[in-house]
Amino acid sequence: MPISKKIQDFMQQSSWIRKMFEQGTLLKNRHGVENVFDFSLGNPNIKPPESFSKTLKLIASDNCSHSYMPNNGFIHVRKAVSDYLEKEQGVHLTANDIIMTCGAAGGLNVILKTILNPEEEVITPAPYFVEYNFYVDNHGGVLKTVNTKPDFTLDNKAIEKAITKKTKAVLINFPNNPTGRIYSKESLNELCSILRKKSLEMENTIFLISDEPYRKIVYDNYKVPSIFNSYEESILTTSYSKDISIPGERIGFIAVNSASKDNSDLISGMTLANRILGFVNAPALMQLVLPYIQGHTSNISIYAKNRDILCQGLAKIGYEFIKPEGAFYLFVKSPVQDDTKFVNELQKELILTVPGTGFGCSGYFRIAFCVDEKVITGALNGFKRTFDKFK
Ligand SMILES: Cc1ncc(COP(=O)(O)O)c(C=O)c1O
Repeated sequence: MPISKKIQDFMQQSSWIRKMFEQGTLLKNRHGVENVFDFSLGNPNIKPPESFSKTLKLIASDNCSHSYMPNNGFIHVRKAVSDYLEKEQGVHLTANDIIMTCGAAGGLNVILKTILNPEEEVITPAPYFVEYNFYVDNHGGVLKTVNTKPDFTLDNKAIEKAITKKTKAVLINFPNNPTGRIYSKESLNELCSILRKKSLEMENTIFLISDEPYRKIVYDNYKVPSIFNSYEESILTTSYSKDISIPGERIGFIAVNSASKDNSDLISGMTLANRILGFVNAPALMQLVLPYIQGHTSNISIYAKNRDILCQGLAKIGYEFIKPEGAFYLFVKSPVQDDTKFVNELQKELILTVPGTGFGCSGYFRIAFCVDEKVITGALNGFKRTFDKFK
């Protein structure tokens, strides 16, 4: 075999999300795009804000720089990002606390590359974004999952129990993919007290990493708390992929808490990691657009409407779920424990979803509702017929 054993294994277990996406392509070729209800991928379907396209045109026609740059990104861009974060989260940050990255995925890899020694552990609440397994493994670490409570809120006692001498970080994601949960300020504070206590006990700093690409996609005026106010040794990564609908452009950033005692080491290490992971720096053109669009979003009210139509339709049929507070996913209880079986049955109705098993949580399936409203309304009859089969 020309490829490594590890990649062969990873390809076997590889993301359910991708598998369903590929299956969708097959079904669309066979039945026509309009007849397949594809809820498999978190690929935003609404346009970026007009300010993004306008600024991009202006920048591109303005002799902009295409040269190498500092590996952490243009200083004026980092300053625009830190100024915005200060306002958004009520924290103190400077341009020096920011590293521009190739999306949140790039950010996570840079963080993990910088902090992990071989065999060190990263704890994450499940269900979770499964790519975390690969990212942690990329840098020699071990991902340890801890179930959330049945309502998908943090089970801080379980996280506390999972902490060992080898724990390097706890990695959280909110608004959450796949559950749509936003962790409360109180539960974050409780988690941070545990991390402080355990860091002392283990004589090791345990970092809190927060992966927040859905921070601006929230419903019903939910507030997303800031980890920086709760814990000094915290690192945030995010991107513009989801909230301004540009995942293909690969642009995001890392912010390191200015109060961290390791701040300057972390920043130096991450700047080097950005380079040696082969990203070198985040895309120049995209960086140059950012100072003009801080705080702008796509039209999130479209996702809010999708969420309501989907939740009302599925509840009427009898499906059980917790209404998402943010992001654009609905995590639904499978009417049978074998979620893969149920997802396969939905496929017979040309409805593509992802089994909860693919997020480390069997007995559920995920619906990505960043799709045209017609896809949701068109799929409801198929959702009903499949539900009725298992009554
Ligand atoms: C929880 C989570 N983290 C990170 C990412 C990666 O985002 P990006 O496209 O910004 O790299 C995703 C993408 O779906 C995600 O859902």
